[in-house]
Amino acid sequence: MSEPFDAVDLIRAKRDRRALSGEEIDWLVDAYTRGAVADEQMSALAMAILLNGMQRKEIARWTGAMIASGERMEFSSLAQPTADKHSTGGVGDKITLPLAPLVAACGVAVPQLSGRGLGHTGGTLDKLESIPGWQAALSNADMLAQLDEVGAVICAAGDGLAPADKKLYALRDVTGTVEAIPLIASSIMSKKIAEGTGALVLDVKVGSGAFMKDVAQARELAETMVALGTDAGVRTSALLTDMSTPLGLTAGNAMEVRESVEVLAGGGPADVVELTVALAQEMLDAAGVEADPAQALRDGRAMDVWRRMIAAQGGDPDAELPVARETQTITAERDGVLTRLDALQVGVAAWRLGAGRARKEDPVQAGAGVQLHAKPGDPIRAGQTLLTLHTDTPERFARAQEALVGSYDIAEAAGESTPLVLDRIGSAQGGS
Ligand code: URA
Repeated sequence: MSEPFDAVDLIRAKRDRRALSGEEIDWLVDAYTRGAVADEQMSALAMAILLNGMQRKEIARWTGAMIASGERMEFSSLAQPTADKHSTGGVGDKITLPLAPLVAACGVAVPQLSGRGLGHTGGTLDKLESIPGWQAALSNADMLAQLDEVGAVICAAGDGLAPADKKLYALRDVTGTVEAIPLIASSIMSKKIAEGTGALVLDVKVGSGAFMKDVAQARELAETMVALGTDAGVRTSALLTDMSTPLGLTAGNAMEVRESVEVLAGGGPADVVELTVALAQEMLDAAGVEADPAQALRDGRAMDVWRRMIAAQGGDPDAELPVARETQTITAERDGVLTRLDALQVGVAAWRLGAGRARKEDPVQAGAGVQLHAKPGDPIRAGQTLLTLHTDTPERFARAQEALVGSYDIAEAAGESTPLVLDRIGSAQGGS
């Protein structure tokens, strides 16, 4: 079959900062997915996009072409409105676990398609898989039934959703082109729009432990994604949130489940509670439902949904969670105030202890990770434990300790504290 365009012409166009037409983009994405555009050609194009950017119009068409490469899900048969949340990924980011049942307890169904972790940021499915019996894979019919009966589902995205993104993301991962804002925005939004949610709240992380290291980049990514969602008829907003230090007091699969259950029981670390409630409020507003999420956490309604959500996927909500066999501690060498604890370094240490994977086929250790005993702003005594490292394989301690060298500062007095929610973008208020 003769092709209507030549990939080399389109690579040259992006190299020379020219915009691609809609027809050119539709062809490129489709031709790459079916193998008519080679990996080396798409790599060159991805690098040209990383260096020279894309116009909003091009990004919207690119996203549409990736959606069209696969199936679209549909939840219009549900009695309740739907809302989902997507985080761009951070260290200790377990928010999806308490958030999905909390929002469902307030009357909005949450269809959450999640992934496994790669590198230093953990994956929601890896965390939930530390619960004995819990299964990530659901058919579309089972997902719909669980949404109808329980109101919340967290499961693996099937292969049918945006297959063009799956192929392109794997290529970007090995060609240094993950960080291109047009490609990140279209990758995330193609999957979320194809998933069929009515409303979407984006948690765009900023700081050392995030993709986006500064607020200006994060704002550009958030604005691009909010525009893509809004144009596709999904009520979309974004919060820019701090990821310079880990969220909560744990980074590691089973440890993060335990901390999430504490939040659902009305306790848990203040930052995890604050962000869970802020994102829940955004999702409820976007879905047009008036409710008080803080109250639903306090009175146990969110915990009830959590227990039913876990049980519906084969998990035992009362089971003991795995604990790592070995621990090592890091202690403070002086009195003072903890003024910095670096998210990236803690994330890399947790990953090296076995909580994350280097290749997507690697297993993860459920009990491995890093436990924090203090957060920035806390007073510290010399000799106090700052971090406990957990692993089943003690030969991993040395590399984890290496990752943590210079990861914290203790000063005479507290510095200025950074707010957790840095900004909000979008106007996703009120239902349809
Ligand atoms: N997550 C995605 O799904 N895609 C990206 O490009 C980056 C993060």
